[in-house]
Amino acid sequence: MHDFTYRNNELYAEGVPVRRIAEEFGTPLYIYSHNTLIRHFNAYRNAFNGQPHTICYALKANSNPAILRLLAQNGCGADVVSGGELALALRAGIPAKKIVYAGVGKREDEIARALKARILMFNIESADEMTAIHEIARALKVNAPVALRVNPDIDPKTHPYISTGLKESKFGIPIEEALEHYRLARQLPALNILGIHKHIGSQITTISPFVDALQKVIALSRQLQEQGIGIRYIDMGGGLGIPYNNEHPPHPRELSMAIMPLLEGCGFHLILEPGRSIVGNAGIFVTRVLYLKKHPQKEFVIVDGGMNDLLRPSLYNAYHNVLPLTRSRRKKVMADIVGPICESGDFLAMNREVNRLSRGDLLALMSAGAYGFTMSSNYNSRPRVAEVLVREKEFFLVRARETYRDLTRGARIPAFLK
Ligand code: LLP
Repeated sequence: MHDFTYRNNELYAEGVPVRRIAEEFGTPLYIYSHNTLIRHFNAYRNAFNGQPHTICYALKANSNPAILRLLAQNGCGADVVSGGELALALRAGIPAKKIVYAGVGKREDEIARALKARILMFNIESADEMTAIHEIARALKVNAPVALRVNPDIDPKTHPYISTGLKESKFGIPIEEALEHYRLARQLPALNILGIHKHIGSQITTISPFVDALQKVIALSRQLQEQGIGIRYIDMGGGLGIPYNNEHPPHPRELSMAIMPLLEGCGFHLILEPGRSIVGNAGIFVTRVLYLKKHPQKEFVIVDGGMNDLLRPSLYNAYHNVLPLTRSRRKKVMADIVGPICESGDFLAMNREVNRLSRGDLLALMSAGAYGFTMSSNYNSRPRVAEVLVREKEFFLVRARETYRDLTRGARIPAFLK
């Protein structure tokens, strides 16, 4: 659930009319609800209350520093996948001891930084990476805390681009090869084996893939135990879905009720890496209608937000509900809502029924808090948009809109062109 609701036919973010924010900061822009963020984080915390656990929020979903600070202040940890995310997490005040680091392509300098920061553990994705982490740890004269990311070959039944736990995926170590990888890790003295990691995909809307994957991981932990390799942390990744349209994903409580019995008596510390389910419905993307255009076959609503601002529809054919900031009784029409980018794939919604719109109308794309701003780009030399955080009746700019000057930041003109 979220805090974007209509009052007298006007869309509000908590206690503020969205229109007021759009008027103050212009469009397009992202707006986040403080209340929703806290509620979603607490839903996880309360659900796993009875079990030693750390919630390591996946920064890739949304790494706005104000959101990270808010989560840090509430005791949240971080799942990072780059030196940049590590820097942002630390700067936001997330303790290194609550940071896990995944990703198939960690660079040596990134590994060194994470070792120096003394993060909780690396989630290693290949034998090569294991050797690299070992060498860097030796050179720095420290021990590297590690888990191996195993690929349990479970179908999460989600979009193929965001499913990661199947055999053919580039992620993790095939579970049947895990044992030999752990044996290899044991031979590397600078590695401190702490855990098992798995993440099977994103926007998962049923419980069973989580249960099936965890069962495989627990079976692996037993095999490891027999080999004298003790496991302290089970990191079950992220992936819990959210309602975009008419999905009914499980609540974190349902997830905990299904998996806690499996963990009972095992003595593991559980790590969760939710991203989307914390920030997804806590954010909206607001855009303004520029023009209306009618072709013989189709009607287009051209808006000022494009695929560079919100890529999910173009990339995954993802559905985001489109709501007018002011509800009307105007006639319904079927239209494609498209952006200004010079690509036919630039759309925010296809064949969508909306009340007839006029130039200047404002629209909200719902559930845009996760993988919205973080996947945005400057394509077509468009400055990246502003982000605003609402808290009850107040609202705060948490990232200023980029300017044209930002478009040349770091660029150099060689002397021969001056
Ligand atoms: N942990 C790991 C290792 C991950 O790779 C991911 C997401 C997460 C946690 C967080 O998953 P979540 O709870 O957010 O589902 N850009 C796509 C989603 C890509 C997800 C990548 N990994 C989208 O917009 O749907």
